[in-house]
Amino acid sequence: MPTNVDPEELNYDSYETEKYDEDIIRSIPGHKELHESIGTILQGITRCGQILELGAGTGLTAELVLKRFPRVKYYSVDFSETMMDGARNRLSAYGVEFIRGDYAVIDLPQENDLVVSVIGIHHQETDEDKKSLFQRIYYSLNKTGSFIFGDLVTYRNPEEAALNEAKHFHHLVENSQDEETLKEWAHHHKYLNSLAPLEDQVEWLKEVGFKDVEIIYQKFNTALMYATK
Ligand SMILES: C[S@@+](CC[C@H](N)C(=O)[O-])C[C@H]1O[C@@H](n2cnc3c(N)ncnc32)[C@H](O)[C@@H]1O
Repeated sequence: MPTNVDPEELNYDSYETEKYDEDIIRSIPGHKELHESIGTILQGITRCGQILELGAGTGLTAELVLKRFPRVKYYSVDFSETMMDGARNRLSAYGVEFIRGDYAVIDLPQENDLVVSVIGIHHQETDEDKKSLFQRIYYSLNKTGSFIFGDLVTYRNPEEAALNEAKHFHHLVENSQDEETLKEWAHHHKYLNSLAPLEDQVEWLKEVGFKDVEIIYQKFNTALMYATK
């Protein structure tokens, strides 16, 4: 199976939407700034007819994208029914098509102008899994399409990797609502996330065909890339 853990193991299915929203915003370093940077990228995109989002969660990222392109054809993929229910509520004003499934294995909608994925692809366990998903994303885009990719990453240099991991955990300690939430998110980061070096991921995106890959935002283990054909 291409995805290393199922939604149950990731605990996504047991989360109540409101708690999840607060926790992800608090727990992912730079979650707010990363989304502000996505807003800036979106302002620079003038025409967009179809968007595919992979791992929409409760729809926090989708809401931002849909505010910019309210009439776009929007496909939202997630394998957690609970997360998807949260997104359905949040995005009820928009004509979103929800697809429940593992984006590593399902047939992805084609001819997208934009693919968006924020804080999900790090669950693809191996480098090969991640590369093969990048390839599928590339093929799903039309000739001038682009990919907004925010995720948790590490770094090639072991000292840089250790430093940024320490800062990520420090952020969790400083920002978690309570001890129980800290335990949950610290466990998730230590045992359930499969981070790949940012530098490698930029290379892989180029290898699958993207002409330009820009690192737009970075804080500790959080990064935002923008890949264009
Ligand atoms: C952390 S949420 C991100 C939500 C939102 N983008 C944000 O930043 O607030 C990631 C979502 O990806 C989904 N996910 C992870 N791996 C997946 C896979 N292989 N197929 C489908 N959904 C996946 C999880 O169920 C979860 O809802």
